Amino acid sequence: MKKHILVIAGDGIGQEVTAVGKQVLERIAGKFGHEFTYDEALIGHAAIEATGNPLPEATITKSKASDAILFGAVGHPKYDNDPSAKLRPEQGLLGIRKALGLYANLRPIKLFDELLGASSIKPEFLQGADILFFRELTGDVYFGEKGRNEDRSTAYDTMIYSRYEVERIAVKAFEAAMTRRKKLCSVDKANVLESSRLWREVVQKVAKRYPEVDVEHQFIDAAAMLLIKDPRRFDVVLTGNLFGDILTDEASQIAGSMGMLASASVGDTIGLYEPIHGSAHDIAGKGVANPLASVLSVALMLDISFGLKSEAETVLTAVDTVLKAGYRTRDIADGNTSSEKILGTEAMGARLIAELN
Ligand code: NAD
Ligand code: IPM
Ligand code: MN
Repeated sequence: MKKHILVIAGDGIGQEVTAVGKQVLERIAGKFGHEFTYDEALIGHAAIEATGNPLPEATITKSKASDAILFGAVGHPKYDNDPSAKLRPEQGLLGIRKALGLYANLRPIKLFDELLGASSIKPEFLQGADILFFRELTGDVYFGEKGRNEDRSTAYDTMIYSRYEVERIAVKAFEAAMTRRKKLCSVDKANVLESSRLWREVVQKVAKRYPEVDVEHQFIDAAAMLLIKDPRRFDVVLTGNLFGDILTDEASQIAGSMGMLASASVGDTIGLYEPIHGSAHDIAGKGVANPLASVLSVALMLDISFGLKSEAETVLTAVDTVLKAGYRTRDIADGNTSSEKILGTEAMGARLIAELN
């Protein structure tokens, strides 16, 4: 199979982890006889520095010319600590999601048994947890009207959803539930927010088309609590952009680390595959970032964009084998990990490639 992949590594550890993701893609192509070609594009702080624009036009053009995108991360402390900055790295990521119509962000919480000890939740509450989040990605308070009043003493961001936006992601989530344990939990704040009442109304309507799916509605505050209390009660979780952003960082602790959570951002055409974590400047440049979220994002790309199921499965098996052999990056090491088994980003990549040979 011939495919053209755009690599947008971005900022901070985005560069380090995406390099490993790309190596895995190349190895899979070699192993299975595929021809993957690559291009690169700028985004975020790197793009602001080089072009004065967090999302240069060339990045959009190259994206549209590709079959899938491997994305790293955006962000820089310079902007995090300067609320008045007009140009911000995150605008690049939000812009590309909008420009490519990537309205559905799938965030699987895949728990590797070997990492039960890496979580701060007791293992007996975790074993067997398997959740698939559908986070709406191009609407909500992220994209509603925002601004300041005239003397800039008041600021607002509008939380807004249309029926159309809720329905299309709800359909995707219900379709996924039908292929899984047929349970769906929709998360909103319908006891307070009008946009959430519309959300719930639309989800209830879509649910009628899927009578086999067992549906529940939870408020975001209760859902945040239940996720930690009893992660196994969830199968598919459907939620809006902001609630999904927050809940999935929380859920990363079920899998053991932010460095383990991959995602697929999809719409009706091209897919963008991205770890859920950010540029992590606290560890950037130190060579210690966990590359597995990027590697698991590659597995999602192979499966969802290219339909290469056994290739995707091969990647997952390699990750599992390396973890079973006791290798860890620092973030997923626990008291039982001996120091020689704690690997840096590149060494973890090398172990995976060796496993894929
Ligand atoms: P973060 O996800 O970058 O980091 C949170 C914590 O998790 C840090 O302690 C970090 O060291 C750790 N971590 C994250 N990924 C890791 C990995 N692969 N291996 C080991 N440890 C890992 O979130 P933050 O610190 O809140 O944000 C930093 C910057 O990243 C900000 O500018 C933010 O806007 C941006 N950000 C970007 C994305 C994205 O590009 N998708 C996502 C989240 C945050
Ligand atoms: C994510 C990030 C982004 C988001 C930021 C960087 C715009 O946190 O991908 O989860 O909030 O969507
Ligand atoms: Mn986030």
